[in-house]
Amino acid sequence: MTQQALFIIFGGTGDLAYRKLYPSLFRLYEKGYLKDDFAVIGTARRPWTNDHYHEVVMNAIADDGHESDRTNSEIARKFASHFYYQSHNVNDTEHYVALRKLADKLDEKYKLNGNRIYYLAMAPRFFGTIAGHLKSEKLITDHGYNRLIIEKPFGRDFETAKELNDDISAAFSEDQIYRIDHYLGKEAIQSIAALRFGNQVIESLWNKEHIDNIQITLAESLGVEERAGYYETAGALRDMVQNHILQIVSLLTMQKPSEYTAKELRDRKVEALQNIKVYSAKEASKNFVRGQYGEDAEHEQLDYRHEEGTDEHSQIETFVAGKLETTNGNLTGVPIYIRTGKRLARKSTQINVVFKDTTDNIFTATGEQDTKLEQNVLTLYVEPDQGYQLDLNVKNGSQGYGIMPIHLEYHKTSAEKAKVPEAYEKLIHDALDGNRTNFAHWHEVAQAWRIVDVVRQNWDSQKTDFPNYVSGTMGPKAAQELLTRDHRDWVFGATKH
Ligand SMILES: NC(=O)c1ccc[n+]([C@@H]2O[C@H](COP(=O)([O-])OP(=O)(O)OC[C@H]3O[C@@H](n4cnc5c(N)ncnc54)[C@H](OP(=O)(O)O)[C@@H]3O)[C@@H](O)[C@H]2O)c1
Repeated sequence: MTQQALFIIFGGTGDLAYRKLYPSLFRLYEKGYLKDDFAVIGTARRPWTNDHYHEVVMNAIADDGHESDRTNSEIARKFASHFYYQSHNVNDTEHYVALRKLADKLDEKYKLNGNRIYYLAMAPRFFGTIAGHLKSEKLITDHGYNRLIIEKPFGRDFETAKELNDDISAAFSEDQIYRIDHYLGKEAIQSIAALRFGNQVIESLWNKEHIDNIQITLAESLGVEERAGYYETAGALRDMVQNHILQIVSLLTMQKPSEYTAKELRDRKVEALQNIKVYSAKEASKNFVRGQYGEDAEHEQLDYRHEEGTDEHSQIETFVAGKLETTNGNLTGVPIYIRTGKRLARKSTQINVVFKDTTDNIFTATGEQDTKLEQNVLTLYVEPDQGYQLDLNVKNGSQGYGIMPIHLEYHKTSAEKAKVPEAYEKLIHDALDGNRTNFAHWHEVAQAWRIVDVVRQNWDSQKTDFPNYVSGTMGPKAAQELLTRDHRDWVFGATKH
């Protein structure tokens, strides 16, 4: 089904628009999901012409594509001709009047039925101003749909997130707001529900009787790169845990939705987050560990405090590990260990579900050396690898009865991965469809802040000795101790994973 819509992109000259939005819209166009009846207005302060804007859009497509002639192709030119640039300062009320006139004109020209998608690809401090003006200056149509897509970060804590939400809610209702968490657009994250509820063998084991612990790791090998300005105000807890990791936690711990609809899924996710224990300051100290990377002399990499744009005394964490407790249904009491960090040994996002030890190892009686039973582990590889691994114990092929671990693996090939729509493409497609399944509801965002705020406040109240881990390792010692004290170990980091 093709879609008629006018996109108004605030921040049309920015990095996100260039790297993600224009290429994603192009892919939807190439696939025929967008046809002749769509238009895009790009806005920002820079005084660009339409011709220059078309060039930028075509360059963005070329930079994203694999085909050398993509930028000059007829289809790229035709696509770019749907783009209009309007110089616009979001603080200037007059500019919204000009924007409305252009929007109305394009609505008529392309027969868009008043359908509008406002994409706020700008710093969140502008969200309230833009939403308020869209309403007061009557850009919001009274026919067709009006949808607001907003980017992270959604606030700095619960209070600021609530203020932001109140501001945008004055102009848009919850069902018109699409809060992007691009992890929710990733194929492997969307596959969690299929794995859990599409396989009797998994579903029947997904409970505290069989699962020992769940581990979620979002490991990056790169340092802060060009993002120091933002990172100094955010840190790993706000940048990765409050949003991506807690979204993954909710998908792993939620109860089974009665049907796979946006409402059911989001209700179950909210419930799952509400069932994650909000720690006291003392509990947060015990269950959360922070780190900041030191230098890697061998590879001539600087420590965080000497990267360009960082504070030489920075207390910002580039690493977080934590233990969460859930009281959600069948998983009550199963610990969830989370971990994310920069400059770690290897880039990998993976989820490891560790099953309980076999209660009664009957093979010890055979007297063979290799009769020790490893725990069964189900691993979901999210990126860069996409796939699954199940660790089992089988007979080792000897004359006697030794046991050895094997790994059943499925990994998507490069060709298969290339066919999977990119997260932003999927999410924009969903927004056009009015499907909010893979966007965060305010109640999810709010509860996630409540969970991390305690940790943040606890850390902000005490200075710590940074740096405390060497680049190229798996983080500070304390992250290991978090599991060692529970007589457990991280799965990722062992050679087989
Ligand atoms: N880049 C990413 O990969 C990424 C990933 C996840 C989330 N995000 C989020 O997406 C948002 C945008 O990020 P970005 O990286 O694209 O930022 P960016 O490159 O700094 O772009 C900011 C945009 O805002 C415009 N702008 C600034 N002040 C303005 C004003 N007063 N009136 C009108 N336009 C104004 C800028 O254009 P002019 O200077 O021409 O006005 C520019 O187009 C942020 O919330 C960010 O956290 C970005």
